[in-house]
Amino acid sequence: MSSPETRNNGVSRPRYKIAAIPADGIGPEVVGAGVTVLNKLAATQNTFDLTFENFEWSSAYYKKHGKYLPDDALDVLRKFDAILFGAVGSPDIPDHISLWGLRLAICQPLQQYANVRPTKVLRGTQSPLRGCQPGDLDWVIIRENSEGEYAGHGGRSHVGKPWEVATDVSIFTRHGVERLMTFAFETARSRPRKQITVVTKSNAQRNGLVMWDEVAAEVAGRFPDVTWDKMLVDAMTTRMVLKPESLDTIVATNLHADILSDLAAALAGSIGIAPTSNLDPTRENPSMFEPIHGSAFDITGKGIANPVATFWTAAEMLSWLGEKKAATELLDCVESVCEQGIVTADLGGKSTTVEVTNAVCEEIERRLKR
Ligand code: NAI
Ligand code: MG
Repeated sequence: MSSPETRNNGVSRPRYKIAAIPADGIGPEVVGAGVTVLNKLAATQNTFDLTFENFEWSSAYYKKHGKYLPDDALDVLRKFDAILFGAVGSPDIPDHISLWGLRLAICQPLQQYANVRPTKVLRGTQSPLRGCQPGDLDWVIIRENSEGEYAGHGGRSHVGKPWEVATDVSIFTRHGVERLMTFAFETARSRPRKQITVVTKSNAQRNGLVMWDEVAAEVAGRFPDVTWDKMLVDAMTTRMVLKPESLDTIVATNLHADILSDLAAALAGSIGIAPTSNLDPTRENPSMFEPIHGSAFDITGKGIANPVATFWTAAEMLSWLGEKKAATELLDCVESVCEQGIVTADLGGKSTTVEVTNAVCEEIERRLKR
């Protein structure tokens, strides 16, 4: 995965090449914060190296060049070990142009079919749910990231006429569902509770999601040590709110998990803390790591964006690259800073992005320096 580098003293250690794509809105603010913290962590750990290359692909790039990505972008990205992404979306460009032009234009061809979204109540923060303590809400949502409702199949004809037709066709392939379910059950198996909930809507969607359920049951047969249950997506929202402690790993379609994971982030305290990994589990292509949130036009440039989602994202990236100890320590430092009350406004605090970033760097330095 990494590019080994031989040091002066003859000891070789991993060096990870990261492509940074900050893009739009608060993306540059939070990715800048993430790179600062990652550099501090690498310097303090002193067991691996990180190099970053910044790419200006964004809505500003689109306005200048008429496209979000240069033609060789995927070949360029394939040379990196991982991609750290900010957010894409600009008030003067339709969202479907920006999303498909940049984020999906990377995820889909790079076969990042598993989208992993852990959520928990961080120490020192509060869930809006009465009585929900850290530990009561500790989930990982696995989102299908390559097909389903966002497969891109459909079209419009007779545009603007009273008889206009527009379709977005959900695509479910046995191959796509089977590989995603396998990844989700493996994730459930790796967590202490070994428990997974398969989210569906097979009462109303009687083709694709009936196959989804059947494949889930087949895959479950290969994981006898994992307890599983099935939940209709509408009922799932009530269970997430009323019985958060009854859930652990959750697997859902592209659309369902998109919605449920924003709900999950809010239930854990804020959209500003939630990370996401777009993984190619085969490791043929680099995976992409980003905060769940978007460009947040309303707070762009104000210096108050919560960088915690990007810090947790950075920890997920390190974990995927094999640096699990550094990943655990980074998240632990972030939680300690939250416990000290150094949090941004979305978490009820008064600190700025830079103040939270500096506090995390100081915590890393204090605890990890050897
Ligand atoms: P959003 O996530 O950008 O913002 C929703 C609300 O959460 C806003 O009030 C915002 O201020 C707040 N928020 C988000 N991140 C925050 C942070 N780190 N700290 C503090 N508060 C934060 O979602 P919205 O408004 O639906 O979308 C804005 C734009 O972002 C649109 O163009 C949309 O298409 C795009 N978008 C891009 C995504 C991506 O690149 N992966 C994901 C979601 C939206
Ligand atoms: Mg979303």
